Amino acid sequence: MAAGDVHEVRIADSDTWFPALEGERILRAAQRAGVWLPFECGWGSCGTCKVVLLEGAVSALFDDAPSASPRDARRGRILVCQSSATTDLVIKPSWVSGEPRPEFDTDSCAAVLVEEEDLGPDIRRFRFRLDRAIGYREGQHAILDLGAGLRRCYSMANLSGSADVDFIAKRYDGRPGSERLFSLGKGAEISIEVPYGEMWVRGSERPLCLVAGGTGVAPILGMLRGLVATSDPRPTHVFFGANTRDELVCWADLVGLAGELHDGRVTGALVRPGPGWDGARGFVTDALAPALPDLTSATFYLAGPPVMTDAVLALLKESGVQLDRIHYDSFG
Ligand SMILES: Cc1cc2nc3c(=O)[nH]c(=O)nc-3n(C[C@H](O)[C@H](O)[C@H](O)COP(=O)(O)OP(=O)(O)OC[C@H]3O[C@@H](n4cnc5c(N)ncnc54)[C@H](O)[C@@H]3O)c2cc1C
Ligand code: FES
Repeated sequence: MAAGDVHEVRIADSDTWFPALEGERILRAAQRAGVWLPFECGWGSCGTCKVVLLEGAVSALFDDAPSASPRDARRGRILVCQSSATTDLVIKPSWVSGEPRPEFDTDSCAAVLVEEEDLGPDIRRFRFRLDRAIGYREGQHAILDLGAGLRRCYSMANLSGSADVDFIAKRYDGRPGSERLFSLGKGAEISIEVPYGEMWVRGSERPLCLVAGGTGVAPILGMLRGLVATSDPRPTHVFFGANTRDELVCWADLVGLAGELHDGRVTGALVRPGPGWDGARGFVTDALAPALPDLTSATFYLAGPPVMTDAVLALLKESGVQLDRIHYDSFG
């Protein structure tokens, strides 16, 4: 089959089918056709999009996807977010719908990089203008197609509902995705799929505890902006950890937003505090641990590098916080 060929993907035991281009992610082809299959992260970590492949053959686009296992391969289960059809297919998902779930009306948008702002050492805010206004739950992420097969997740830091989306990203030396993002330059055109992910503030009476490490501040800022915009009355405590004061980016924004809430506060923690820092010292867990007795009924939202989310999850588990009160995005 040549590039550009179209394959027919049929849903088992139904009349539903959709066309999938050679090389196109099956999940994306389904979304394009208005056939809604289960999905969540969009990139291979959650496993929600697994379907049984009953007929045909696919090409796996990310062999190291965290949720792809040899057992799944033996049982004919594939991730539709990271597979493309190489023949006509028959698949069996756990459900199929003609309507997207309210939080997952995901689409691919053409985007232009219109603004860049250096916030800290190798940390930058990128504003992309999409070809239309889009809706998401603050805290969710997008998938940026950076070209040549490089797709990377970044969380929106601004309020939903506009054509402009802000991301806060860190550049890692020698690592292709973030290096590509930082080298795009104003005016660059890419495509962005949005929204994905389960990170958004759930409605309940419980107090909120938002915990960010490094660029994990992006979704936490988005959530805080959402809480301010809706005048959310819940007590909200934000913890933000970084190595140095320079890396504690958007600190003034966090403090300002928390100040607009009915009962909001922010605690910063620095591993290497310079002179003049009067906040907490050490890891974000060192700041969070002594506050936990006051947060026994809170719902927790965590975002940041895996080392940070793992440490916070372990602390919360040790402290007896029930898993259904913890939502997190691990940036790995
Ligand atoms: C839900 C989520 C939200 C995130 N939000 C932010 C954010 O707001 N700011 C920020 O700075 N970082 C964020 N990240 C991390 C970001 O996506 C990158 O992992 C990080 O920038 C390092 O990427 P890199 O390309 O420089 O490193 P690399 O080492 O090149 O890439 C590492 C990451 O890319 C993933 N990956 C590799 N191949 C593929 C593929 N084919 N398809 C999809 N993924 C692939 C890997 O699993 C790994 O997570 C987020 C990650 C996730 C999962
Ligand atoms: S693995 Fe999460 S949507 Fe595919």
